Amino acid sequence: MFKGRVAVVTGGTRGIGAAITQDLLANGAAVAAGYSRGKESAEKFKAEMEANGATISVHQGRVDDAADCARVVDEVLARFGRIDYLINNAGITLDKTVRKMTIEDWHQVVNVNLSGAFHMTKALLEHMIERGSGRIVNISSVIGETGNVGQANYAASKSGLFGFTKSLALEMAQKGITVNVVAPGFIATEMVAAIPPAALEKVIEKIPQRRLGRPDEVARVVRFLLEDDASYITGTVFHVNGGLDM
Ligand code: CAA
Repeated sequence: MFKGRVAVVTGGTRGIGAAITQDLLANGAAVAAGYSRGKESAEKFKAEMEANGATISVHQGRVDDAADCARVVDEVLARFGRIDYLINNAGITLDKTVRKMTIEDWHQVVNVNLSGAFHMTKALLEHMIERGSGRIVNISSVIGETGNVGQANYAASKSGLFGFTKSLALEMAQKGITVNVVAPGFIATEMVAAIPPAALEKVIEKIPQRRLGRPDEVARVVRFLLEDDASYITGTVFHVNGGLDM
């Protein structure tokens, strides 16, 4: 489906990002997966994908560092010569109530989750404009809609992605580039596994489907938005949350 196409997936070697990478590889794309730490596990992931015959590169870099983003994009273009898709997936949590949250906790989460999407977009937007085509998918969260106790920084960053996406979608609407959001609910990843067990139990009670989502259930929505057939969809939020927020 995506033969000859190249995708950049930030945070693409773990969690939801790894599922997106796997899905795109399985559908014929070449994927450049970014990671910030854990070189060994990123290389291991790459080797596993390559064992299945996939074309993948992994790139160390911090999305909260604009210069790192520019370097990674240069590396990808040097390796593959083109970038068709950008999936801004890299994200972190530093959960604390606002009373306990430090300014550093605030900036760290906003800089990675929100400014990171801006930096990556800036680094490759001119390339997409020159080619007259491109797809950008920003991974937000149900928390960006609902808020959550202990997640003011995370919720603000994920809400911010809605406004960023819609503004960029307007700016790119006549340039062959679509920009959309996928907003997962609580998905079975390391991030959700770190929620205190009592808090997680309460979360699952509130999900109408009474279960966590699977990373592949998010990945296939991302894939749909990258398909040629999705060309008239832009500036939209796709929720994948088992009914948690309707
Ligand atoms: N509603 C209202 N207030 C609440 C509350 C609730 N559900 N739970 C706790 N509070 C209040 C307490 O009453 C307390 O208030 P005061 O300080 O005024 O007395 C305050 O919050 C602090 O409570 P605790 O001392 O019990 O807790 P804490 O400060 O040690 O930790 C927490 C609080 C950070 C929220 C912790 O409970 C936690 O980590 N919860 C899980 C947060 C969560 O769901 N994160 C999701 C991670 S996954 C993800 O983010 C992916 C995604 O996109 C979905």
